Amino acid sequence: MPTAIVKPKVRGFICITTHPQGCAAHVREQIAVAEKAKIQNAPKRVLVVGASTGYGLASRIAAAFGGGADTVGVFFERPCDKGRPATAGWYNTAAFHEAAKQKNLKAVSINGDAFSDEIKRKTLDAVKETLGQVDLVVYSLASPRRTDPQTGEVYKSVLKPVGTPFTAKTVDTDKEIVHEVTLEPAEGDDVKNTVKVMGGEDWMLWMQALKNENLLAKGAQTLAYSYIGPEVTHPIYKDGTIGQAKADVEKTAHELNTSLLADLGGKAFVSVNKALVTQASSAIPVVPLYISILYKIMKAKALHEGCIEQMVRLLAERLCTDGAVPTDPEGRIRLDDWEMKDDVQQAVRELWPQIDTENLRALSDFAGYQKEFLKLFGFGFEGIDYEKEVELDVPIEGLVG
Ligand SMILES: NC(=O)c1ccc[n+]([C@@H]2O[C@H](COP(=O)([O-])OP(=O)(O)OC[C@H]3O[C@@H](n4cnc5c(N)ncnc54)[C@H](O)[C@@H]3O)[C@@H](O)[C@H]2O)c1
Repeated sequence: MPTAIVKPKVRGFICITTHPQGCAAHVREQIAVAEKAKIQNAPKRVLVVGASTGYGLASRIAAAFGGGADTVGVFFERPCDKGRPATAGWYNTAAFHEAAKQKNLKAVSINGDAFSDEIKRKTLDAVKETLGQVDLVVYSLASPRRTDPQTGEVYKSVLKPVGTPFTAKTVDTDKEIVHEVTLEPAEGDDVKNTVKVMGGEDWMLWMQALKNENLLAKGAQTLAYSYIGPEVTHPIYKDGTIGQAKADVEKTAHELNTSLLADLGGKAFVSVNKALVTQASSAIPVVPLYISILYKIMKAKALHEGCIEQMVRLLAERLCTDGAVPTDPEGRIRLDDWEMKDDVQQAVRELWPQIDTENLRALSDFAGYQKEFLKLFGFGFEGIDYEKEVELDVPIEGLVG
């Protein structure tokens, strides 16, 4: 059995090592938040696509431990191999299953490419066997590429502005240097390809596959996640290539509502979530600096939430209330409401031009950003002896396929 002392090794916006016990602690921390919430009228049979890290993992934890749901989760993670630790999502899921078993919650996980027909097939079988039907489908994939299941063609998503170059402040999170960056605009098929990967097409394919096999319960709901953010990030997010993909996701929600879900009395929603440190968001230029400033302000105003608090609020105060689901005029659920509060954004606008390398730690919560980033990989948890050897080969009980 491979054991090792594991220390963080950060390379740019990724940490290439992970700590199994730390990842488990991260999951337990989120479970504790969800359990306290005791969400009423929550869906009891939930499928989460993209269930191993970030918002998808928090959705699964909130549904299971906050709402008592049995869950099927799909993700793409790497197990431990030749002394190299598994990816964080692997260890997270192992810990999720262990805790679910203790609470007698059914849980099945499928590891593989969610864009492929093969993984959809395996998931449909798992849903059939474990849940019978689903009441809620959460679509929370964040992927840099997608292989089209029909043609085999590989599409790559890019994070670029559209139309004109975008010059803005950013932070090199490794070197702790605040500097200006100019991002060249999308060219060629960049927009089309990003829509192909991060747009709504695959969400629709999942919903069609579930419907075709009668796996969507009456009144089934489905969620996909999006982000809008303030003007300072619009050129790289809302108006950029990823924003075009998110617009396509919104279009898909409307299509699902008018076609596939209509006769079931079901509903599709795009939930606009808060900017948070995840493996996906740390790869977006400018965003880590914005998040560092945002955390400082939201923590000072006691408005700060992590993924799990957001997902608990999504279920408890949006999806599972007695009345209609509260949305904005475009039909979107808004969990970015606290982030986008006038006083919060006014404070961001005031701090943004002042930030430089020297005052980064004083004026922003860069320390908090770094701490959260390392937590994603299982580092920085109290009660864990990081000098001790740990078992790296942790099985996921409940993994099929
Ligand atoms: N992080 C933010 O600030 C933020 C804010 C608002 C909305 N969102 C949205 O939330 C969603 C999830 O993002 P996140 O930040 O939680 O990302 P993340 O990187 O933490 O999670 C991505 C998940 O997708 C899975 N995945 C990736 N490629 C896959 C594949 N081919 N097959 C199966 N699984 C695959 C991963 O295993 C993981 O479970 C995205 O739609 C993102 O745009 C994120």
